[in-house]
Amino acid sequence: MKIGLLGLGTIGSGVYEHLSRRDDISVKRILELVRHPGLEHLETSDFNEILNDAEIDTVVELIGGMEPAHTFTVQALKAGKNVVSANKLMLSHHMEQILTLAREMGVHYRYDASVGGSIPFLYNLMRYRGADRLVGLSGIVNGTTNLILDVMQTDGRAFDDVLAEAQRMGYAEANPSADIDGIDAMCKLSIASAVAYQKYVRPEDIDTEGIRHITAGDIIHFKKMGRVCRLIASSALNADGSVSACVEPTLVPDASTEAAVRLNNNAISVTGEYFGVHTFMGQGAGKDPTAFAVELGLRDILEGVSPRLNPIPEGYARIDNAAAKRRYYVRTSAPLEIAASALSGGAYVTEPIGVRDMHRLAKKLRETDPGLFFAGISE
Ligand SMILES: NC(=O)c1ccc[n+]([C@@H]2O[C@H](COP(=O)([O-])OP(=O)(O)OC[C@H]3O[C@@H](n4cnc5c(N)ncnc54)[C@H](OP(=O)(O)O)[C@@H]3O)[C@@H](O)[C@H]2O)c1
Repeated sequence: MKIGLLGLGTIGSGVYEHLSRRDDISVKRILELVRHPGLEHLETSDFNEILNDAEIDTVVELIGGMEPAHTFTVQALKAGKNVVSANKLMLSHHMEQILTLAREMGVHYRYDASVGGSIPFLYNLMRYRGADRLVGLSGIVNGTTNLILDVMQTDGRAFDDVLAEAQRMGYAEANPSADIDGIDAMCKLSIASAVAYQKYVRPEDIDTEGIRHITAGDIIHFKKMGRVCRLIASSALNADGSVSACVEPTLVPDASTEAAVRLNNNAISVTGEYFGVHTFMGQGAGKDPTAFAVELGLRDILEGVSPRLNPIPEGYARIDNAAAKRRYYVRTSAPLEIAASALSGGAYVTEPIGVRDMHRLAKKLRETDPGLFFAGISE
């Protein structure tokens, strides 16, 4: 197997190192903007050199972002090359086009590494959905936010302080928005839900709230409530065929599985009508765990796993978050105007309210209180 590797950043360099130890998969060309000492003979800045190289059967896309990743992926698939990627942002916005094109061309598009890093979650979701009706997904899919929440809970430190340390240690990006505003989790939930329910879920249809506004004072309230805050991505197949889907900070009981997920780990549960609940836990990101997931995808292709493992969803899900109701912790200086009991310091616990209603209310209240924080309270 001959690889054209796009991007030699965190994950790309991990994949290069892993593949250097194998003799059945070799990197023939690397697309990079800058040159790396010792690799100049492989490097190019022109994607056409990979596209037009008939010996390269598989493109590993690890440049990330929307463009040119999307264009390169489409061109590679149209040229009859397999593509293996970890790019959840691009895939979640172009999933129908990419999966359909790969199926038409009879090639692989493997995206195992895009959700859950090294955890064999998507792969098993693809297998499960052929044998059971999957009705729910829920879990921690962003390691950066879990690390921040876990350290805040343990050490009582302020959000900005913990975020700055996570950035210094390389756990958070210089621009942390994708993580702390829940966008990364939203993209992952969109992809996993499409696989589980066989209907595409548009990322923009998912009610999404991040952890940007959480304070050390909020954590003190959660401790008194016997709760721990986690950023939970969840979706469910409703009885009428619609799908509910949201990403939001959630207060889980101290003794729950989610509370036991420490530091930058991930844990994702899938519910099937027959098998019940399975939870997958482990390293959801990072150089070696993610490179491992990419390598697994490559090995599957090499060993002849059928591209038909990859399901092709039919149409788009109707998202209905009105029926999903829960109590919320809300801390705001704005008048709340819904039924709620007051805690101290401008914090409240609401009566059960629809997920969509709560996200809309928070948007409206932020016009007067931009620092408002809210979190669902799990039953
Ligand atoms: N990091 C993780 O833990 C993790 C986990 C799961 C999935 N992923 C996904 O894996 C992908 C790669 O992430 P990463 O963390 O490895 O990102 P990264 O460190 O920023 O690496 C991206 C690399 O691609 C290069 N690049 C960007 N645009 C290019 C272009 N047009 N032509 C050639 N090279 C280009 C960049 O070069 P410059 O630096 O010179 O711009 C950089 O070396 C992303 O889709 C990400 O979402 C990452």
